[in-house]
Amino acid sequence: MAVEQFSSPLWVYDFGVIEKRILELRSFDVIRYAQKASPNINLLSKMGGLGLEVDAVSAGEIVRALRAGFSPSRIKYTADVFDKDALALVKEHSIPVNIGSPDMLWQLHEAGVKVPLTIRINPGFGHGHSQKVNTGGELSKHGVWHGELDALVKKAMQLGFSVDCLHMHIGSGSDFEHLSQVVSAMESMVPVACKSLKTISVGGGLPVSYKRGEQNNMDLEKYYNMWDSSRKRISNIVGHAVQLEVEPGRYLVAESCVLATEILAVKKMGNNLFYLVNAGFTDLVRPAFYGAYHHISIIPKKSKELGELVDVIVAGPLCESCDVFTQEEGGVVVSRKLPLAKVGDLLVIHDAGAYGSAMSSNYNSRLLAPEILWEKGEFTQIRKRQTFEHMLNNEVCNE
Ligand code: LLP
Repeated sequence: MAVEQFSSPLWVYDFGVIEKRILELRSFDVIRYAQKASPNINLLSKMGGLGLEVDAVSAGEIVRALRAGFSPSRIKYTADVFDKDALALVKEHSIPVNIGSPDMLWQLHEAGVKVPLTIRINPGFGHGHSQKVNTGGELSKHGVWHGELDALVKKAMQLGFSVDCLHMHIGSGSDFEHLSQVVSAMESMVPVACKSLKTISVGGGLPVSYKRGEQNNMDLEKYYNMWDSSRKRISNIVGHAVQLEVEPGRYLVAESCVLATEILAVKKMGNNLFYLVNAGFTDLVRPAFYGAYHHISIIPKKSKELGELVDVIVAGPLCESCDVFTQEEGGVVVSRKLPLAKVGDLLVIHDAGAYGSAMSSNYNSRLLAPEILWEKGEFTQIRKRQTFEHMLNNEVCNE
């Protein structure tokens, strides 16, 4: 077992799951992986090998994509701002840019950078699994306001840019109903003047089923067909064929990974039973941040049988009351029915591949856990456990 080999806490990925998800999206002309969901360069390089393109939202993500072997033309810098490093990398490698603020156009122009452009449109509405991941509407900082699109396209053309792609991403972990609203919004907003348009990017946001027995995975065929029909109408507007791009993060990786932890304490607080494990929100922040649900299971260490089901609150080791894996939006702590377990048993947190390891931190000076890949019957370490030396590396002590 991976935990015996690499100890815990530990992220364990199954690449077969990622491959399966990629296959399901093959009807789209381009699958652009939103690497923010899980940016390990080993995973990136494997996805690149399967023909995917990649999204980068920061200078660091550009560096990762290049290191993983993506040629610059298969990377797209998608953000609402440039910082110095990102602009320098875009310029050095001629990386296509997805503009999320009009200022980015002037900054590219001033820097003398001519790269193919995408414009991210804020269609005036958004949706996601939590208000914190809604990326559309007047309260969102993301994208170019739809009313300003025509003028920006014209300005970009005057400056000699080619606007190759229009993009909308309304939020993460959305649903069919809201994602389908994007289709008509996109169609109604395509500027006739956008003659250089080659691609429509439908963004990411595809949901996955976190709860066992719950079917919220989307009907992908229906989703694709809807976009495909729309693509034909958009082709008529601009007068030539356009291709369809999808930009998933969560959908490709969420179910590919578990966070394996060990129970360090089992204790009662009045009527409540707690399992305290050796991973906290420094590893998986989604429950504390969004009230996100993750399925949990127990692997007994010594006994062969699972104990009777009891109500348990699962929490981590951090010096923070919200370091609880069983909580709902708004920080409401809830219990979960789990087998009665003992100190030393393993507690596995499922579907942790998207925004799991990617959002880990060193808070409480906790070390980043290693990442292991399960592929072709073998475990390979794709990120080593951080060391205390590494954690302190950039700190300077005056003595
Ligand atoms: N494209 C853009 C422009 C995005 O901003 C995002 C996600 C994606 C694609 C990928 O979305 P996905 O397919 O993964 O839903 N940390 C949150 C999710 C934040 C998503 C940020 N942007 C969570 O743990 O649920």
